[in-house]
Amino acid sequence: MQIVETVSALKAQIKAWRRADHTIAVVPTMGNLHQGHLSLVAKAKEYADKVVVSIFVNPLQFDDKSDLSAYPRTIQHDIEQLTTIDCDLVFTPSADVMYPEGMDNQTTVSVPGSDDKLCGKNRVGHFDGVATVVTKLFNMVQADFAVFGEKDYQQLLVIKKLVQDLNIPIDIVGVATYREDNGLAMSSRNQYLTQQQHQQAAGLYQTLVSIEQKLQQGDDNFEQIQSVALSELTRLGFEPDYVDIRQADTLAQATSGDKALRILAAARLGKARLIDNIACNLA
Ligand code: PAJ
Repeated sequence: MQIVETVSALKAQIKAWRRADHTIAVVPTMGNLHQGHLSLVAKAKEYADKVVVSIFVNPLQFDDKSDLSAYPRTIQHDIEQLTTIDCDLVFTPSADVMYPEGMDNQTTVSVPGSDDKLCGKNRVGHFDGVATVVTKLFNMVQADFAVFGEKDYQQLLVIKKLVQDLNIPIDIVGVATYREDNGLAMSSRNQYLTQQQHQQAAGLYQTLVSIEQKLQQGDDNFEQIQSVALSELTRLGFEPDYVDIRQADTLAQATSGDKALRILAAARLGKARLIDNIACNLA
């Protein structure tokens, strides 16, 4: 496995792979890798001959600077984990490599409709930062496939729209959320939880599952379902941001009769802001 820090070294390897007719998949990450990330790398290998994992804690997508400085950076451990699985190249650019003109001078990409709902509403500019760095990574790696987790469902849809709207020649692959035994979605932010909060945190997933059950039973009073879930999360010790039932493909507000739904929630527990979502397909 190669470890590469510059765009020129990355491009040289990509060119060599292209000459040998290899297909390429990229898995963008911010490091602090866990089983969820590793499952994306495994999926990438199913799609392509060569897998590139990028590790870059992207300052452009953090609205809260203390969140950025606290973000766990574990590059040596990440590299060790990647050497044990099917990863061919790790790209670890510095901020200077990614933003040589400085972030204030960076041309940005903005995906309409990403800032007015769910996580975009609470983190203004976040998805522009994600869209910008992902566009840069796509242009640097020139991969055939890019793999993202459904864990960040709104992010996945933002990236699908970005690729479609800008005609970027890459296929986006979504991967199911990897969960701990108690249902808690794996996340780099879980380590901000105490052991007791770790147990409590499973309540977020359980709340989503109980909403799904109500919807499957034919309850279509979305507002009431959401407000009951918010109270339930508060009772369980969370400070909920939102619980929302949305159309799965657009994230528009769901209305009675919609079949393909997504149930999404974000809530604070102690020092962590947790997000989760599940599908709900009504027959
Ligand atoms: P990061 O939070 O490191 O996540 C990298 C990828 O791993 C994302 O596609 C995310 O959805 C996926 N992922 C995280 N936890 C997962 C889990 N439990 N199961 C499955 N997939 C999971 O998301 C980002 O980084 C950044 O915004 C990035 C796209 C790299 C742009 O900077």
